[in-house]
Amino acid sequence: MSDAPLQWEGVPGKGAIGVIARDMAVISPSLPRVYPFVVERGEGVYLFDVDGNRFLDFAAGAGVMGLGYQNPHVVSAARDQVGRLMHSGFSNFYAELPVRFAEKLTKVTGYDRVFFSNSGAEALEAAVKLAVWHNRKTGFISFYQCIHRGRILDLPSTTTAIATGGDDIPCIQVHRGHYAYCYRCPLNIEYPGCGIECLNEVENLLEDASVGGGVAGIIVEPIQYEGGCITPPDDFHKELRRICHEHEILFIADELLTGVYRTGVFLAMESFGVQADITAMAGSIGGGLPLGATLSYSDIMNWPPGTLASTTGGNMVAVAAGLAGIEEMDSQKIGKSVNKIGYYMQKRLCEMQDACPPIGDVRGRGLMIGVEIVKLDKTPAPLLRDAIIEEAFEAGLILLPTGDSTISITPPLTMTEESADTGLDILESAIRSLKR
Ligand SMILES: Cc1ncc(COP(=O)(O)O)c(C=O)c1O
Repeated sequence: MSDAPLQWEGVPGKGAIGVIARDMAVISPSLPRVYPFVVERGEGVYLFDVDGNRFLDFAAGAGVMGLGYQNPHVVSAARDQVGRLMHSGFSNFYAELPVRFAEKLTKVTGYDRVFFSNSGAEALEAAVKLAVWHNRKTGFISFYQCIHRGRILDLPSTTTAIATGGDDIPCIQVHRGHYAYCYRCPLNIEYPGCGIECLNEVENLLEDASVGGGVAGIIVEPIQYEGGCITPPDDFHKELRRICHEHEILFIADELLTGVYRTGVFLAMESFGVQADITAMAGSIGGGLPLGATLSYSDIMNWPPGTLASTTGGNMVAVAAGLAGIEEMDSQKIGKSVNKIGYYMQKRLCEMQDACPPIGDVRGRGLMIGVEIVKLDKTPAPLLRDAIIEEAFEAGLILLPTGDSTISITPPLTMTEESADTGLDILESAIRSLKR
C-alpha cells in the first residue's frame, strides 16, 4: 500500500461520533481514551476508522501489533486453529501446540520453564507469586513510575484454595526505589558522575534488615514505558543484577512492552547484557491475541501441581497466532530491521530537536522511542504534549502519550523508512504549528 496521501474525510466523522456516544453510555469511564478515534480495521502499518479515514499507526496498539495489522501468516495460523480447536483446557489436559510455543520461547531466551496466562497483569502476577513461593518472602522492590501490577489488586491474599494449601497468602509489601531517569534525575545529580546513586539507595534499602530481610525480589522494566519511555544508562540493569545476586533475591523483568524484538533483540534485557531470573511477557507475544507468559528456570519454577493455573491461559488460538508471529519475525530477521529503522527514526527526531525547542529529550531503543515535550524552562509540558498528539491525529497519525509529558513512538516493527518519514513529517508540523 503506498504511503501518501492519507485518505481523509475529517475527524471525528459521523460514524465515530455515533459510536463514542454509545460507548460513553455503557463502557467503564476508567479507560484513558486520548482522542476520538474509532477503529474499524487495520492493514500493515495503517488503521482505518469507521468513517473510512486512513491513519498511519505509530502506536501499534500500545506495542501489541509487532508485525502490524492482518499479517497473512498470523491470520492464517489463527484461522486454522479456530477451525480445529479453540480451547484445550490446558490447565487440566495436555496439548502439543502450547508445548511447541514454550519450546520456541525457551530456545530463544535461554529459560527452560514457561507458565502461560492471558495478559500482562497475569504474567506479572505469576512472576510475583513464583518469587514469593521460591523465596518464602513477601517483600518486593519496584521503581517509581512503573506500572507492573497496577492492574490487579492483591487477590491471592483473599484466596484460600487448593493452590495455597488452604492457607491465606499474605499481602505483598512493596518498597520503591528511584529509576535512572537521567534527563530529570529525581536526586538532582548527573550520570555518570553519580555512580548510579539511585541504585545505591536500593542497596541501602536492602541492607536495612527491617526491609531487606523480607524482600523476595526486585521487579523492573528494561525501559519504563508508562513512566515516559525512560531509558536507563547501559550499566543500570547490570548493577541491579549484581545487587540481586549479592542479596540472594530474584531479578524479575517486566518485558510486556519491550519483549518480542521491540528494542531490536528478543528480550530488551539482552541489550543491557542481563538475564533476569523471571521474565514476564505479554503484549505482542500472542500476535494480537491475549496471551501472557512467565519464563524462568526449572530450579525456580519448581512449584507443585495446583500452585498456580489459568483456566484460559495458553489459549490454542492465541498460541497459534503467537508462534506464527515469532516464526515470521525470525524469517524476516526483524531484529536487524528494528535496529536500522529505530536508529533512523531516533536520528531524525534528534535532528528535529534542534529546530523544535519543545522537544526536550529523545530516548529509547529500537522501536520503543520517547519524545519528551517541555516548556522553555525544561519543565514538563503535558498540555502541549496532548495538543501535539491531537493535532497529529487530525492529520492522520496515531500517537500515544506516556509519562507526564512524553509522546511514545512504538510503531509496528515492519515500519519502512518511507512510512516513518511520513509520520515524522506530520509530528514535526504538529509541533511547529503549536505555540508553547
Ligand atoms: C510495562 C507494563 N507492565 C504491565 C502492564 C499490564 O499489562 P496488561 O494490560 O496486559 O494486563 C502493561 C500494560 O500496558 C505494561 O506496559
